[in-house]
Amino acid sequence: MTDNFRLTKEAAQKYNNHSVPAMFGPLAEATMQKVQLRSGTCVIDIACGTGALTREIARKLTGKGRVVGVDLNETMIEVAQSNQPDCRHVLEWYAADVTELPFEDATFDYAFIQQGLQFFPDKSAALQEVHRILRNDGQLFLTCWRAVSPFNGALAKALERHVGTDAAVKAKAPFSFRDGELISKLLVDAGFKIARHEPLVLERRFIDLRAQIMALPIETDLRDAGADVTNKVVEEVADALSRYDKKGVLHVPQEAHLFVAAV
Ligand SMILES: C[S@@+](CC[C@H](N)C(=O)[O-])C[C@H]1O[C@@H](n2cnc3c(N)ncnc32)[C@H](O)[C@@H]1O
Repeated sequence: MTDNFRLTKEAAQKYNNHSVPAMFGPLAEATMQKVQLRSGTCVIDIACGTGALTREIARKLTGKGRVVGVDLNETMIEVAQSNQPDCRHVLEWYAADVTELPFEDATFDYAFIQQGLQFFPDKSAALQEVHRILRNDGQLFLTCWRAVSPFNGALAKALERHVGTDAAVKAKAPFSFRDGELISKLLVDAGFKIARHEPLVLERRFIDLRAQIMALPIETDLRDAGADVTNKVVEEVADALSRYDKKGVLHVPQEAHLFVAAV
């Protein structure tokens, strides 16, 4: 993601090819195992990216229903649109900011935000807007990383040493907002009641560590720094994660908060 979250089509495609199978897809599956959806309901996935969770929702939702994905980045939406899941629902996609959702009040029964909150500049306005589009008995399911993952921690350390502080900070940006009490307070201030708050742990798998590093926003910093520096960074991250190696594949734990909040 760039600083203002505007992504090129190539970056959105890379995100879909690398980060989704490694992390956001497994997180979506883990989340949906914790969720029951009433048949025939209207569901929105906000900051849906390329639709990893939107597709899981569509697979799970029975009855007629409605499944909508919204993301700020048109390029993410374009990639999402080209990936219709094998299910009965025809998914709807919109490019929009979370603070200006193009829907009437009380349109949806359920809203989901998977790893989006930390990137919203105005989190209070975002959550108030989500509250507005939910029905009186609606629910929000929200995940946000709970701890800096060993992978991103090791990557930030290597970047700090060989590239610079800006790149290191960028590598940890997805983990910049992880205080559960603060998230609870934001939800309550936006009008939600916390129904559940629990940890979700998934295993992020790395078959090709270099490819996954080069699919991240810090790719441009590494390219600017050159091949020798890139090789050093990849080697140091590989060394730091060697204890997670199982037959050539790294299985690295990554921990999220799962909040279920009622309107
Ligand atoms: C880490 S990605 C998560 C995407 C998706 N939920 C998934 O699990 O693959 C964060 C997403 O938040 C989106 N985003 C950031 N700011 C946003 C905003 N103000 N309104 C809507 N989406 C936003 C980005 O475009 C990006 O797709």
